[in-house]
Amino acid sequence: MEVLRGLGTQPKTLSPKYFYDAKGSELFDRITQLDEYYLTRTEMSLFDAHMKDIARHLGENVCLIEYGSGSSVKIRKLLEAVTPAAYVPVDISDEHLQENAKALHADFPNLSVLPVCADFTQLFALPDAVADMTKVGFFPGSSIGNFDPPGAEQFLQNVHATVGHGGAMLIGVDRKKSVAVLEQAYNDAQGVTAAFNLNSLVHINKELNANFDVGQFSHVARYNEDLGCIQMFLQSEVDQHVEIGGATIRFAKAECLHTENSYKYHPEEFLELAAGAGFAEVTHWSDPQDWFTLYLLQGN
Ligand code: TRP
Repeated sequence: MEVLRGLGTQPKTLSPKYFYDAKGSELFDRITQLDEYYLTRTEMSLFDAHMKDIARHLGENVCLIEYGSGSSVKIRKLLEAVTPAAYVPVDISDEHLQENAKALHADFPNLSVLPVCADFTQLFALPDAVADMTKVGFFPGSSIGNFDPPGAEQFLQNVHATVGHGGAMLIGVDRKKSVAVLEQAYNDAQGVTAAFNLNSLVHINKELNANFDVGQFSHVARYNEDLGCIQMFLQSEVDQHVEIGGATIRFAKAECLHTENSYKYHPEEFLELAAGAGFAEVTHWSDPQDWFTLYLLQGN
């Protein structure tokens, strides 16, 4: 079992996929609205301020491919301004895809929505109908930061293979900045991020018949200067044992279970990564504080 493999390594790790059950998605929605979590708000402000410019750069007969179809507010803004020839949401959850496609169809009756159910970290085939369109990948929310840098480059290579020469990518990336600002974004005063992180244990208890005592773990998020990322952990408050899938896992007091990383990039770092995947910068948009950048890349 994958979970046991992660719990057998030193340090122990948990796949971030356990964040997202119904409760996790609801908590993540609340994270995006927190005062401390500037990422979503800042990216939205870039859309609001520059949408005409973005649309002008993308041009016409565009097939918009969204990697992970979670960010319905952002995609709606983009769809209104760009009026693409087709919209291809790619998501691992078929249910999520169908719901989204239905809701979009109600508001954009003329839009051709062509969902693809796939793991977007792997290569997937596009629908035949979009063959002659200009492909534009869309990856907002600084989700690129949840890959480690080699994984991010591999992902961008896959996007390049999908959009091809002459294709493009619109991607939102969080930037390096004051450690206090970064750490606050993942340690909100209301404890929503803590609840989100801890919910992966609740999810595993339900799904894998485990008995994590959620009250005996606490949320830890800190910036790792060497790696350039926020690292998320669940720290064991006490010496304890957890039963999971017939196995017993021991946690020492203060031991940290690693759940997620969120890498932050200076523009030159990100553009070097993109160049390694065959993408060159067309232009970018940043907020006045230079906290978050939206890049438009084109495929070489
Ligand atoms: N892509 C988001 C980010 O890195 C995901 C995220 C926000 C997250 N808060 C979190 C992941 C807390 C795990 C725990 O900013």
